[in-house]
Amino acid sequence: MRKQIAAANWKMNLTYQQGEKLLNEILESGIELRPDQNVIFAVPFPYLIMAASAVAEEQGYEISAQNCNDKSSGAYTGEVSAEMIHTIGIKYCIVGHSERREYHLESNRILADKLNLCLQNFITPIFCCGEALVIREKNEQNQFVQQQMEESLFHLDKEQVKKIMIAYEPVWAIGTGKTASTAQAQEMHSHLRSLLAEKYGKDVAEEISILYGGSVKASNAAELFASPDVDGGLVGGASLSAQEFIQIIKALKQ
Ligand code: PGA
Repeated sequence: MRKQIAAANWKMNLTYQQGEKLLNEILESGIELRPDQNVIFAVPFPYLIMAASAVAEEQGYEISAQNCNDKSSGAYTGEVSAEMIHTIGIKYCIVGHSERREYHLESNRILADKLNLCLQNFITPIFCCGEALVIREKNEQNQFVQQQMEESLFHLDKEQVKKIMIAYEPVWAIGTGKTASTAQAQEMHSHLRSLLAEKYGKDVAEEISILYGGSVKASNAAELFASPDVDGGLVGGASLSAQEFIQIIKALKQ
């Protein structure tokens, strides 16, 4: 049975102290997760060790990096490798967030290298895909996202692809307050799952968690997560409030 996931993406927000307080508030609410549920906090690099230690005793609570470099090591000042993340005990990493594609010009090809490095280092990549508004307006979102999958992901074999998670994040819904409708989210998630099924078989496709991201909040999470192919969310803004994020965790499919 595939996992239902509430993932927080803090982006470049919160001081160390604020981050620690937020984690503690969420953990103190004592939500017990079922074996098929995970809560993942994608925190800034300097907070990874603190966050990993905060969740160490909590069943189903995990920590993720927000990015890694596409090279394994070397003269890349200021960069962080997948191996470094692995050697501090972190098991997840967001790859290909649209903000990195836009501000750091990360191409599908570079993201393929990042996925490989994550997998080589026992890290589950949370691979983000999704179209900008101009693409949606031309109704070309399905082909666009298909190309992102083909160029970054489809070189993986069955065993490797089973180890990844996908987050569908329409760029026009990120941080804008505009959420994809439940029907739009379900339609794209089902499209993604059918692409995976065509390439890797239905059994593999059924095992891969596909999260929705883009203005998920306490007030819309339950409806979005109720869709059969939406396996939880990757949450930016609303994950910075303990009360909001607690409600989002509680909205995971039962
Ligand atoms: P948002 O961000 O929830 O603030 O729209 C989601 C994301 O970028 O992962």
